Amino acid sequence: MEIRSSVPVSRDVDALVVPWIDDVATSNEWWEKPAKKWLEANRTSEDRTGWAVLGRESRPDLFLVQIARGARPIEESFRQAAGRGVRAAREIGLRSVAVRVPHDAELSIWQAVAEGLVLGDWSYDELRDSKGQHAAPEIRVLCTEGEPVQKVTDAVRRGQVLAEAQNLSRELVTLPANVGTPQYLATVAKRLAGELGFQATVLGIDKLREEGFGALLAVAKGSVEEPCFLVLEHAGQGGDPYVVVGKGVTFDAGGISLKPAKGMEKMKYDMGGAAAVFGILVAAARLDIPQRVVGLIPATENLPSGSAVKPGDVIRGLSGKSIEVINTDAEGRLILSDALTYAQGLSPKVIVDMATLTGACVVALGHHAAGLMSPSDELSEKLLKAGNTSGERIWRLPLWPEFRSQLDSGIADIKNTGGSAGGTITAGWFLRDFVDDEVPWAHLDIAGTTWASDARGWQPKGATGVGVRLIHEWLRDCT
Ligand code: BES
Ligand code: ZN
Ligand code: ZN
Repeated sequence: MEIRSSVPVSRDVDALVVPWIDDVATSNEWWEKPAKKWLEANRTSEDRTGWAVLGRESRPDLFLVQIARGARPIEESFRQAAGRGVRAAREIGLRSVAVRVPHDAELSIWQAVAEGLVLGDWSYDELRDSKGQHAAPEIRVLCTEGEPVQKVTDAVRRGQVLAEAQNLSRELVTLPANVGTPQYLATVAKRLAGELGFQATVLGIDKLREEGFGALLAVAKGSVEEPCFLVLEHAGQGGDPYVVVGKGVTFDAGGISLKPAKGMEKMKYDMGGAAAVFGILVAAARLDIPQRVVGLIPATENLPSGSAVKPGDVIRGLSGKSIEVINTDAEGRLILSDALTYAQGLSPKVIVDMATLTGACVVALGHHAAGLMSPSDELSEKLLKAGNTSGERIWRLPLWPEFRSQLDSGIADIKNTGGSAGGTITAGWFLRDFVDDEVPWAHLDIAGTTWASDARGWQPKGATGVGVRLIHEWLRDCT
C-alpha cells in the first residue's frame, strides 16, 4: 500500500473510492459533479448504504460509498466504505484503487481506511484452477497536502499490518479440514516464528501424555490426526505475559454425540479462536509491541470412532479435576480447560480465551457480536471499549454463581454440559472452574462472528478473522 499526497485527486488510478456522509463537500474536484448527480438521482432511495460506479466512460471509475450515520464509531463506517469500494473494484476487474480520505480526518480514520482496503482485497483462491486471474489490485490512500505525513504513514502501516494479520487468520479458518490439520497448524507456527522472529514451541502427543493433557487427549482419541499444543511467544519488553488462548478444533463432527449432516462442513471453522491467536502473534511481532504476549493453542479434531471418548466417560485433565463427559460435542471447553491450566503456570498478567464455543451464543447474539464472559468488571470494560473502537463488537453476559449448579455431576467434580438453559453462560462457567479467582480472565465466545453468512462492506461470505484487531486495540490501551 502506498500513501500519496495529491491535491486534487489524480486520475492515474483505475478506481477512486469516495466515502461520503449525507453530502459531498465542495472543493471543486473533478469527481464532485458526477458524484452529486448520482446523489440527486438516488436521494429518495431508502437504502443509503449502496455504492455507485460513476464516470465509467472516463477513468478513473468513481465509487461513492455511503457512510451510515449511526451508533457505531465513524471509523467503522470508513473501514466498511473503503473495503466495499475495493471489493466492488475487484468485482469489475479494476487494478489500482485509491481512497480519498477527508483532509481533516483523525489518524484513527486513516488506520481504519487502510484496514478496510486490505480486508476488502482479500480472497482465498488457492484451491481453484482460475487462481491468479483476479490479481490483487494495487491500493493507495490519498493524503492531501499539509497533512502530517509521518503520522499518517504510521497509522496506515498499523492498519495494514493488523489487517494483513487478520487476513492470515481468515485464510487459516478457510482452509478445509483435510488441509488445515493440527499438524499443519504446528508447521505454520514454526514457519511464521522463523520468519517474524517470535518463539514457537510444539508439544506433540508424547509430551502431552507425559505432562497429562488428559482433556485434550480425550477429545483427540477419536481421530487418527495427532493433536498438539502450540505455545507462541512474542517477547516484547518482558514482564508477566498477556496470554491469549484459542480453541483449535480443526474439525468438529461432534464425536460420538454426532452433529447432524446438514451444515457440518462448516465445522472446519471451529478453530477460529486458534486462527485469531496466530494473527495476534504475527501482528505483535510485526508491530513489535511492548507487551510480552503468549499465545496458546490446543489443536485437535473431534470425530466419532471406535476409540473416541464416550458420553458418560470420566476424564482427568492437566488440572487434576475429574470431568464427566455428558456430551462429546461440548469438546471445546474440555481442551480449553487444559490450556487455561497451562496458562496459569506462566504467571499471567491476564488471560483472554477466544473460542467458537456454543451454538447458543449464535442464538443469543447473532452474527454481530461475540459473547464476553468475565468475573472482572475492569477487564470487561476495557475489552468492550476495544470492541467498539475496532468494530469487532462484543456483549457481556453474566457469570452469576447460580449457573454453576447446572454443571454439578453425580460422579465427578464437574460435568461438561449444563443443559440448554443459558448454554453460553454454562460453557463460560465450565471454563471459570479452571481459572483461579485472582487471575484476571475473560472468555470470548466467537461462534457467531467467526464466519459471515452474508457479504457486507469489506467482508464477503466466509471467514472474518475476528479477534485480531479487537485484541490489539485492547493491548494498545493497556500500555
Ligand atoms: N463448535 C461447537 C459450537 C458452534 C456451533 C460453533 C455453531 C459455531 C457454530 C461446539 O463444540 C458445540 O458443538 N457446542 C455444543 C455444546 C452443547 C453440546 C452443550 C452446542 O453448541 O450445541
Ligand atoms: Zn462440538
Ligand atoms: Zn466445537
